[in-house]
Amino acid sequence: MKFVSETKRTHRCGELNKSHVGQAVVIMGWVDTRRDHGGLIFVDLRDRGGLVQVVFNPTLKELAAAKDLRNEFVVAVKGVVRARPEGMINKKITTGEIEVEAQVCKILSEAQPTPIHIGDSKVSENLRLKYRYLELRAPQLQNHLIVRHQVTQLVRNYLSDKGFLEVETPILYKSTPEGARDYLVPSRVHLGHFYALPQSPQTLKQLLMIGGMDRYFQIARCFRDEDLRADRQPEFSQIDIEMSFVDVEDLIELNEGLARKIWKEVRGKDIGPIPRLTFFEVMNRFGSDKPDLRNPLELKDLAKVAKGSGFKVFEDVLARGGVVRALAVPQAGSFGRAQIDKLTDLAKQMGAKGLVWIKMDEGGGLSSSVSKVLSAELVEKLFAEGGGQKGGAVFVVADDFEVACRSLAALRDQLGHQLGLIDKSRDSFLWVVDFPLLEYDPNERRWVARHHPFTSPKDEYLQTLFDENEKEYNTLLAKAYDFVCNGHEIAGGSIRIHNQQVQKSLFKALGLSEEEVHHKFGFFIEALSYGTPPHGGIAWGVDRLLMILCDTDAIRDVIAFPKTAKATCLMSDAPSTVSREQLLELGVRLGTAAEKGATEGKKS
Ligand code: AMO
Repeated sequence: MKFVSETKRTHRCGELNKSHVGQAVVIMGWVDTRRDHGGLIFVDLRDRGGLVQVVFNPTLKELAAAKDLRNEFVVAVKGVVRARPEGMINKKITTGEIEVEAQVCKILSEAQPTPIHIGDSKVSENLRLKYRYLELRAPQLQNHLIVRHQVTQLVRNYLSDKGFLEVETPILYKSTPEGARDYLVPSRVHLGHFYALPQSPQTLKQLLMIGGMDRYFQIARCFRDEDLRADRQPEFSQIDIEMSFVDVEDLIELNEGLARKIWKEVRGKDIGPIPRLTFFEVMNRFGSDKPDLRNPLELKDLAKVAKGSGFKVFEDVLARGGVVRALAVPQAGSFGRAQIDKLTDLAKQMGAKGLVWIKMDEGGGLSSSVSKVLSAELVEKLFAEGGGQKGGAVFVVADDFEVACRSLAALRDQLGHQLGLIDKSRDSFLWVVDFPLLEYDPNERRWVARHHPFTSPKDEYLQTLFDENEKEYNTLLAKAYDFVCNGHEIAGGSIRIHNQQVQKSLFKALGLSEEEVHHKFGFFIEALSYGTPPHGGIAWGVDRLLMILCDTDAIRDVIAFPKTAKATCLMSDAPSTVSREQLLELGVRLGTAAEKGATEGKKS
C-alpha cells in the first residue's frame, strides 16, 4: 500500500499527551467510535496503545474520506496534536487532555459490521471465542497479553543473569508421566507408532542435566488431556526450570527471588516473608494443599470429643481410621435452611456423606442438625471445640481424611468469598513442603507417585523403598515443594532421583513391571547410569501466574487463543474431522462409539 510505504507511523494512539501539543503526527488504528457534530466529525481511534480523539473537518478535500468512516475501519491520519478546550478534557483516558486535528485521512481497510462489539463482556463467551481476533482488540485482553510478555521477558532476564540457558525440547516425543492422558500423534512413516505431546519436558530437562547443561529453563508448552476447570487448559505454558548440584533450599531461594522480582515490577508490591508449611500442616489446618492464606478460617480436629460420644456416625468413621473435622464460620449463625442446604450439597459434591451443622444465635442459643440424636452437652462441646462463637456456626464432616479435608476446604473457600473474609487487596504466598512421596490409588489398586516418579524421597526414607516395605509407603516423604499464591498452585517441583537403583526401586514400588519400565523409560534409566549430577527443578504455570497478576478468575483471559472447557477452539473449529485419505496414509482406522465405550468400561 503506497500510503503506508511512504508515510510512517510516528506514535501509537494512546501514547499522545500534552507534551506532544503542536507536533505533527501520523497515527494508524481502528475506528472505535464516530460522532458527527455539525460539520465536524469526531473519531476515537484505537490501537494497542489506547484511544485518541481525532477531529476531522470533512469539507476539506484531504479529509473527505472521514464521511465514510464506520466502526472498525482501519485508518491512517496525519495531523497536529492540540490541547482540548478546558470543558472538553476527559480525565478517564490518558490522552484526554489532547486531540489530533486531522490534515490527511486515508482509509487503509474497510470493515463489515462486526458480530461482537469490541470490549463488550456481556456478549456470550462462545461468540467472543469464535471471534477471538476481534475480542483481542479490546484493551483489557491486550493488556493481559502485554503483562504476559513483560513477565516472560523478566523471567528470561532473571534466569539468564543467573547462568541459566534457554533450551528448546521436542514437542513430538514420548509419553511423559504427569498423570494426565496424552495427546497422541500418529506417525506416517512408522505405521502403528505414535508420538506423544509432552505433558511437561520433565524427562528431557533431567536429560539436559545429565548432558551437563547445569542450569536450564524454557517457556515450555505442555499438553494434557484432562478434565478442564477454570484454571486448567489442555495446552498451557510452564516456566520450566532445572538445575544441577542443588538441594531444596537452593530451588526455593531462586524461585522466591523470581516471585519477588515479578511482583515488584508488575504489581509494584513487595512480597513479605513467605511461610513454609508441611503438607500435613496445611491439610490439617486448611483441608487443602493449596490454601488461600488470606482466608482466616481454619479447620479443627474433633476426634477427641467425637470419640466415646456414642454418636454412631462419628464413632464408626473413627474406628475405621477416618477423621472428624470441623470448620467454624463467623456470621453463619443466622444462615437459613436454603443456605445450609447449599453448603451441604457442596460438601456432598466433594464426596462427603453429609454435613453436620451447629449454629449459635447472638443470644447464645444453640441449634443443630444433630440435636435430636446428641445430648445438648455434647453439641455444646462440639461447638466449643470446633471454635464456634456467638452468631457463628460450626460445620462438621466425619469421613476419610481426604474427603473430610476436601469438603471442608470447599466450604472454607466458598464462605471465605461469600462472607467477604478475604482481603483481596493483598496476595498471599506459601511454600508447601514435605509432600508424601506416594499415594494409594484404590481404582488402580496400586501406589502412584504424588508428584511424578522422578521425585526423590527424603534421605531418611530411602531404606524403606529399598526394603520394599509396602506397609510404610504411606509414611514416605518427598523432596517436593509447591509454590502457592492466593489458593492457586502456581509452581511445583522437586529434587530428583539421580541414582539408577533408587529410580528402579521407585518404579517397582509403583508396580511397574521391568518390561513396562523398559518400554516407557528404558533410555532414561540407562542415562542415569552414566554419571548423573544431583539435580532438581520446578515448573511454574505461566497461565495461572498471569491470572493472578491480571486479577482474573478465568485462565482463558490470559491466553491469546484459548480452548473451551471441552477442549475445542471455537474460532478454527479444532478438533475437526480429517479425510479418509489422511487416515489411510497414517494407517489409522476409526473405531465405533460402541468400541470406545467398551474400552472405557474396561478401564473404570
Ligand atoms: P506440575 O504437573 O505440578 O509439575 O505442573 C507445574 C505447574 O503447571 C501448572 N499446570 C497447569 N496450568 C494450566 N493448565 C493445566 N492443565 C495445568 N497443569 C499444570 C500449575 C502447576 O503448578 N514436571 C513437573 C514440574 C517439575 O517437577 O519440575 C510438572 O509439570 O501451575
